Amino acid sequence: MNDFTFQSPTAIVFGRGAADRTGAELARAGYQKALIVYGQGSVVRTGVLDRVKRSLDEAGVAYVELGGVRPNPEIGLVRTGVRIARERAVDIVLPVGGGSAIDCAKAIALGAVYEGDVWDFFRKRAVPSRRLPVACVLTIPASGSEASNSCVISSDAEQLKCGINTDLNRPVMAFLDPELTFTLPPYQTAAGVTDMISHVMERFFSGEPAVPVTDNIALGLIRAAVEVAPRVMADPCDYDARANLMWIGTLAHNGLAGCGLGIPGKRDGDWTCHGMEHELSALNTSITHGAGLAVIFPAWMRYVWREHPNRFLEFGRQVFGIEPVDPELDDLSDIDEEITPERAIEDAVEATIDELQEFFVSLGMPRTLGELGIRAGDIEKLLPGLRETRGERFGSFMELTLDDARAIYESAL
Ligand code: NZQ
Ligand code: ZN
Repeated sequence: MNDFTFQSPTAIVFGRGAADRTGAELARAGYQKALIVYGQGSVVRTGVLDRVKRSLDEAGVAYVELGGVRPNPEIGLVRTGVRIARERAVDIVLPVGGGSAIDCAKAIALGAVYEGDVWDFFRKRAVPSRRLPVACVLTIPASGSEASNSCVISSDAEQLKCGINTDLNRPVMAFLDPELTFTLPPYQTAAGVTDMISHVMERFFSGEPAVPVTDNIALGLIRAAVEVAPRVMADPCDYDARANLMWIGTLAHNGLAGCGLGIPGKRDGDWTCHGMEHELSALNTSITHGAGLAVIFPAWMRYVWREHPNRFLEFGRQVFGIEPVDPELDDLSDIDEEITPERAIEDAVEATIDELQEFFVSLGMPRTLGELGIRAGDIEKLLPGLRETRGERFGSFMELTLDDARAIYESAL
């Protein structure tokens, strides 16, 4: 087990009516004025925004508002938020929504107490040392941003989507009411499931030796997601299934599922698939992050699995109950070819990756880049951003180059 530092300081308020407790909890912690940040209208339509505002009113917490955050949030609106946060002297930023609203809020919180341009942090020209606190009301389980150390922002002008990881990014409080997710469109629910599973897989496939304690947590989270996701797709108002998904989403990305797996000094995980997906949604900002991952992850797996086959066998065994056939023990009389041990491993790994991909597709996720509108001619446009954000060599499960990335994109067309 490798060394690690784990902190998850976010207070989680979970359950029915959690959003109505926002004001009381903020007041109890001494906050007086919030900047509410939200997306493109879902929280207005569902009444969640009004409920949060009512709870702030009742608790005597003042607020100002900034709406209009788009999926794959853009730096322009972050700068507007920084200006408002300073001018109105807010003492906490309060996103109400998903990863996009939360990340926009996290960036505002970093920028509000920084003299330069907040984009400096994302281009690694400066390292944040302070922030305003962030508390969030989550409306979609997906990004895990409600407890993660990440913040991902796009710049349309530079056609870049960049993340920064710092414990400063962890919200102080997160309000998680599974009932708020009943209104999610199926595609967003499915993309959320894909994203949370991907957060666990990025860590599980770090390439390091097995860590049974963490592996069991990680694969248990994925097994639970695979079990409850079809229930949510069949009945969007299944409270228990929604609640399980919401909690999986948080645990998938607060760091717990990576303890001991990361290479010291680096992130807890490989994160190549996230890097490659971020280039897709930087190129076309209407691509949903989880949908991009549904295509990239299986393609990456088929490319790299030979580097550490045992990790894939363990994954297949624990998540889908797939075991390689044993030529010594199993009855193979109906198979004509000779099954060598190597062939048995290859078959089991391929079956595992197929099963994972079919699961994503069964939820309504795409199988190919073409379904996302990405054509062969677009691939060269994805590589400069990848070089910018990941460098010439990246990945810990298997170190890859930009040529490898090109081959993976091509295999997913
Ligand atoms: O914008 P509105 O109108 O609110 O609609 C949203 C949006 O269209 C809608 N929605 C959210 N909750 C809803 C709802 N519609 C009906 N009912 C509800 N309860 O769903 C759409 C997607 O929302 P968004 O916030 O974009 O989704 P998500 O949480 O998946 O966030 C995606 C962003 O997070 C980043 C992604 O790259 C992407 O930019 N990520 C952030 C991470 C982090 N900070 O730790 C990690 C992730 O790997 C990811 O990169
Ligand atoms: Zn993600």
